[in-house]
Amino acid sequence: MYKILKKEVLSPTLKLFEIEAPKVAKKCQAGQFIILRIDEKGERIPLTIADFNREKGSITLIFAEVGKTTQQLGKMEAGDNLLDFVGPLGRSSDIEKYGRVVCIGAGVGIAPVFPITRALKQAGNEVIGIAGARNKELLFWTDEFKAQCDEFHICTDDGSAGQKGFVSDILKKVIEEKGQVDYVIAIGPIPAMKVCSEVTKPLGIKTFVSLNSIMVDGTGMCGACRVTVGDETKFACVDGPEFDGHLVDFNEQIRRAQIFKDEEQRAVEAASCKGGCCGCQ
Ligand code: FAD
Ligand code: FES
Ligand code: MG
Repeated sequence: MYKILKKEVLSPTLKLFEIEAPKVAKKCQAGQFIILRIDEKGERIPLTIADFNREKGSITLIFAEVGKTTQQLGKMEAGDNLLDFVGPLGRSSDIEKYGRVVCIGAGVGIAPVFPITRALKQAGNEVIGIAGARNKELLFWTDEFKAQCDEFHICTDDGSAGQKGFVSDILKKVIEEKGQVDYVIAIGPIPAMKVCSEVTKPLGIKTFVSLNSIMVDGTGMCGACRVTVGDETKFACVDGPEFDGHLVDFNEQIRRAQIFKDEEQRAVEAASCKGGCCGCQ
């Protein structure tokens, strides 16, 4: 069993959990993820390691409540236990001294980009951070993110915090102003990662994205997370989750993320059903 040590409500639909998981905390690196299961009847869901504390033996997760399992998770409290917590999974980020790097976190993507930003800063890079969200309420960890950066920008779709616009708009401005950028890492919704990659591709700026493909086993056995990168088929769980954004077939990823929409909708309805409405009984 894996104990929830701390719970923070970042916004009504965004929660932070610190989980007691010493074996995962001992080995994990920036860019990796875990797969958890709440209880025996629960499905397996992947979540990125947003932070870790090796001394305390804990892992921090930040998740958006988007469906049955994340809504159920969001109702749990400090002191409750998770049944399974498998990790660290996936390849860690390629941390090198690239020169001038731009780290982009859009929406819940701010969580996974945080440890990568910290590691890139520690590796001696000049770091420019960009945090974006639909609105002010959905922004989080901006002080923590900013503390790892030499320059930091905030943007929101509706202009309720920082500059009005998308992370890709700020990326364009930064590249124009600086003249040279050596590396970009962009994490967030697929359309945001796609547009950021389109901004940097004609300029030849090395750009990596972290894919949230649907995952089941997380160990390369089931094929659920497959993604086309260049002319190769890769498994996001073992070959990723980070890939060269200039080579990813984002349209395929958008299609694949929708595959189970009907089942996911039915699962949410059945979970909130008091009987007699959705046919679950
Ligand atoms: P559902 O209603 O079941 O699904 C909602 C949407 O989530 C689906 O349409 C689909 O696009 C996606 N999804 C559903 N099941 C899975 C699955 N098994 N694997 C991947 N995606 C799924 N979310 C966060 O909020 N924070 C994170 O740090 C985070 N890190 C991730 C890291 C990786 C490597 C991956 C692959 C995904 C990550 N996600 C993260 C997405 C998260 O796994 C899904 O939001 C979650 O599984 C949704 O489950 P649900 O039952 O609540 O929603
Ligand atoms: Fe099964 Fe990647 S999740 S192969
Ligand atoms: Mg689900």
